[in-house]
Amino acid sequence: MAAPKIAAKEPREVELKAGKVYAWCACGQSANQPFCDGSHKGTEFSPEVFKAEESIKVWFCMCKHTGSRPLCDGTHKKV
Ligand code: FES
Repeated sequence: MAAPKIAAKEPREVELKAGKVYAWCACGQSANQPFCDGSHKGTEFSPEVFKAEESIKVWFCMCKHTGSRPLCDGTHKKV
């Protein structure tokens, strides 16, 4: 599997709204980071789609190499 593009080497803070569905960009090519904009089409990547259980602030992975998708796990310090 090809490596995803590193969108940034730091996480992005996002305020999630309870009940809303989000699609985190896994390929790193979206122009609407950290969310999917469809740019992955034709690649082997697909977004991580999930529904927020609660309204909460989270840190989304932007290096796209996290081991706990879609959240930052500190991996950006090593890529
Ligand atoms: S644009 Fe990156 S996963 Fe959709």
